[in-house]
Amino acid sequence: MLIGTLISCSDSVTLEKVALIPLPSELSVGGGSFEMNSKTVIVASGEAVNTATYLQQFLKNATGFNLDIVANKSENSIALSLDGENLNSEGYSVVVEKDIVSIKASANSGLFYGVQTLRQLLPPEIESGKVVENIKWIIPCVTIDDKPRFKYRGMMLDVARHFFSTDYIKRYLDYMALYKMNTFHMHLTDDQGWRIEIKKYPKLTQKGAFRTKNSQDKECDRLAKENPDMVITPELFKVVDGEKVYGGFYTQEEIKEIIEYAKVRNITIIPEIDMPGHFMSAIENYPEVSCFGKADWGQKFSTPLCAGNEKTYEMVENILAEIVDLFPSSYVHIGADEVEKINWEKCPKCQTKIKKEKLANEHELQSYFVHRIEDFLISKGKKMIGWDEILDGGMSKTATMMYWRGWEPDAPVKAVKQGNDVIMAPSTHFYFHEEQDGGSLMRVYGFEPVPEGLTAEEAKHILGGQGCIWTEYIPSEARVDYMAVPRMIALAETLWSPKKQKDWKTFVKRIGVHFDRLDVKKVNYRLPDMGGLFEDNVFVTKADVAFTSPLSNPEIYYTTDGTVPDKESKLYTGPFEITKNSTLKARQFGKGSARGDMLEARFVEGTYANAIEFENVKRGLKCEYYEGKSWRRGVVDIGKSDIWKGSFETNSFELPEIAVKRYASFALVYNGYIHVKKDDIYTFSLLCDDAGVLKIADKVVVDNDGKHGPIKKTAQVALRKGWHKIELKYIEAGGGGVLYLTMLDHFGQFSEISGEHLAH
Ligand code: ACM
Ligand code: ZN
Repeated sequence: MLIGTLISCSDSVTLEKVALIPLPSELSVGGGSFEMNSKTVIVASGEAVNTATYLQQFLKNATGFNLDIVANKSENSIALSLDGENLNSEGYSVVVEKDIVSIKASANSGLFYGVQTLRQLLPPEIESGKVVENIKWIIPCVTIDDKPRFKYRGMMLDVARHFFSTDYIKRYLDYMALYKMNTFHMHLTDDQGWRIEIKKYPKLTQKGAFRTKNSQDKECDRLAKENPDMVITPELFKVVDGEKVYGGFYTQEEIKEIIEYAKVRNITIIPEIDMPGHFMSAIENYPEVSCFGKADWGQKFSTPLCAGNEKTYEMVENILAEIVDLFPSSYVHIGADEVEKINWEKCPKCQTKIKKEKLANEHELQSYFVHRIEDFLISKGKKMIGWDEILDGGMSKTATMMYWRGWEPDAPVKAVKQGNDVIMAPSTHFYFHEEQDGGSLMRVYGFEPVPEGLTAEEAKHILGGQGCIWTEYIPSEARVDYMAVPRMIALAETLWSPKKQKDWKTFVKRIGVHFDRLDVKKVNYRLPDMGGLFEDNVFVTKADVAFTSPLSNPEIYYTTDGTVPDKESKLYTGPFEITKNSTLKARQFGKGSARGDMLEARFVEGTYANAIEFENVKRGLKCEYYEGKSWRRGVVDIGKSDIWKGSFETNSFELPEIAVKRYASFALVYNGYIHVKKDDIYTFSLLCDDAGVLKIADKVVVDNDGKHGPIKKTAQVALRKGWHKIELKYIEAGGGGVLYLTMLDHFGQFSEISGEHLAH
């Protein structure tokens, strides 16, 4: 028998056959295989019959085999057994031999994951919803022992901003199950829609679930002109009193159906009723629970519930009582994020409450509200989760904090040191509604959920992590697919696999294999970016265009007349030349219906910038450092009304530690010269959060200005051999910060610009 772990195995045949995600704790690949046929039986007894029944149904869809479930050991079988040896209830072992497959676990949750592993070992056609003929259902011989690293492996979907059907929620749960995710956080209510039937307050859904088109819908309409995934689901519109409204909601019966579907897949559903802010869709219909009797927008967010009015507590407790009865989850999420407190400052009831409860200010009023709701949930036998704002004004010992504000990097450690549990959903890495680029997947994969500064014992309070999809600009199920997959799969491996086993290089190969499976499942996943094409390109007489692709058989279609490429456009068959200023649009298509992002590249004819001579060369760069908050227009505002804090010399464009550590808002201006070895076109890539603008030879090369999350932009400049002026301006508006300036080298790799090529 040939033994070798997948991680060290460079044999691409093995990788094709055993492309498991998440990577198991222990895996050895043997020779030979098990072939499932219509005579195969499933062996299971007692409680294990639950998982056996799921497996039987799952296999039947694509194979057409109606495998018998039998109690006694048999040849040609898939044997499921609950043997109690695995200490982790989600852990399992799978041994595939030529005549038998054995899956063992101590609980049905572990057996279920053994079955998911088996599913990934079967040919991708097993994902077909209908019977596939003429195929051998081969399972390679392997031995696997596996358990998850984290107990909370979650995905969140905001069904409030846009609504998604029960059928789609089931699909989403299917994706999660295939990758061993176990918690679905449903963001059920928000300013833009109330999505769950509450019997005591019928107007919440009769009216609160429907709205006329808002500004976000209109932006979706605009984007839909170039992207069909941005079309708002037409079935969700109806006419009420002559007015076209958008919306939908889940009845309690539908919620029960979803919960049951999830339970079979070892997924717990955590409901979120967001309060006291983000409550506008309810306040519009029950204005008596607001401070001033009406729903309204404050400066940044909607005005919240009145935290000084007992009617408010009565209403939210009544709502939560129905939620608690409906959802078996031990947790209920109450949001508590982004609460606009201006009304509370002015409201007599809120001010009376502050005095009566001896609270210091409105932050403590928020904390009072959250504590009171938590007490209510505890009285119902539930635990409370809130977004990380629950830390402000004092968090109870028993609350679980869901970390999201990437610009508050200390929050998770602070919460853990107080003894609280934390779920990691940082906006910087796990917000999957954020636009994607060539680096997004690696960014998710590379994030370590346990922050530095915790002991091993304290680290146990990091329950796990969660990918979040906020849907203001996600109006269709196809678009949810596109934003969730494959980032969810990268997250799944981070949350399941042992840290030391994670390996980006094999992950990329394994996910390539998984695309076939996702094609069969008809998932509208996002293909990885093509290479060889940058946003802004410069040419002197002509540019040679050659696409590269991480896919084995990509189909790339392109246009040069500004139109959106589709399968009717020009098919890329090999390198070609561009000789005049033009905009190239290209898109990759997979074997199924999956597509990549449309890439747009501008080509502009340029001339070489002349090199300059200078004396007294000192290695490295000079950098000016500013603090402040006044860069409204972007980098042009640096040096205006901010405070210059000093300058320093540096060998690279790295962020200085003092700036990052202070988590302040700061700006940097790097200045110096860069040396290039020959007359050529040079390519620079600037990844920054927030603004960054690179100038070379006094011309803007990469313009990545404005307040934004991590975005990478790449552009070119034509330079003569020698030294050229280089300037990089950067702003971190919130705290933290990301800055990577790289240059394409002659090996075709982007690498950091080192001190020996820099001078000042
Ligand atoms: C959030 O993104 N407001 C939790
Ligand atoms: Zn009030």
